Amino acid sequence: MTELLQVTNITAGYGDGPAILDGAHLTVEPGKVHCIIGPNGAGKSTLLKSICGMLTIRKGDVIFKGKRLNGMRPDQILREGICFVPQERALFPKMTVRENLRMGGFILNNQKELDRRIDGILERFPILRERADQHAGTMSGGQQQTLAMARTLIIKPAIVMLDEPSLGLAPKVIQEMFDIMKMMSAEGVTVLLVEQNALMGLKNSDWGVVLDLGRTLFEGPAADVLADPRIQELYLGGKKAA
Ligand SMILES: Nc1ncnc2c1ncn2[C@@H]1O[C@H](COP(=O)(O)OP(=O)(O)O)[C@@H](O)[C@H]1O
Ligand SMILES: [Mg+2]
Repeated sequence: MTELLQVTNITAGYGDGPAILDGAHLTVEPGKVHCIIGPNGAGKSTLLKSICGMLTIRKGDVIFKGKRLNGMRPDQILREGICFVPQERALFPKMTVRENLRMGGFILNNQKELDRRIDGILERFPILRERADQHAGTMSGGQQQTLAMARTLIIKPAIVMLDEPSLGLAPKVIQEMFDIMKMMSAEGVTVLLVEQNALMGLKNSDWGVVLDLGRTLFEGPAADVLADPRIQELYLGGKKAA
């Protein structure tokens, strides 16, 4: 087995509330882009939150590099190398781009190394270098999303999880975000994203996962998900994938 992360039939919910996930499973392979699709309220965000330790897993396991993550705190899971970018991006709007990158490296103890990594990120993302001293909140949606993704790279993560990174962005800008994800995966950073725009998400991914009513209905190569007539009808707006 070559999987990096394995989620086996988990059950999870909020507080003492009902199970939102019940029978969600997922296989994540290193260096690939994985896309979770499914209707509103299916539990996609809840699945990412469960993996990163924000929710208690009631049944099933989350296994990362052979280690069980159930019961670990979010900051411990981050130190293991799994970084989560929530839908609202969690940037500090009143801080500059550079300060936001610094916050992304809060688990690093070595300041010199942190400075080196921040410089490396600014070098790789010219738009962020241009705006290094600008407040994050004053940038465009695409620039903020770029910052949110770039910031994860500070800790050299194994897996970056992105919840709806394309939300509210223009189509051209969305493609730029997918290009960054592809670049990340080519460099060995595994990407797991949730995407409302299922067609676009799957077209830009290697692996597809269909989640509905808190359970995984299908997972496999993204091309297979796109080609499945039933999935097309139910989850891809009935459009034949081009
Ligand atoms: N903080 C919360 N507390 C209680 N229930 C929640 C919370 N967040 C989401 N839910 C419920 O969990 C279900 C799945 O939500 P979510 O994971 O956000 O779906 P998706 O991301 O697929 O749209 C919904 O029924 C939603 O009402
Ligand atoms: Mg969601």
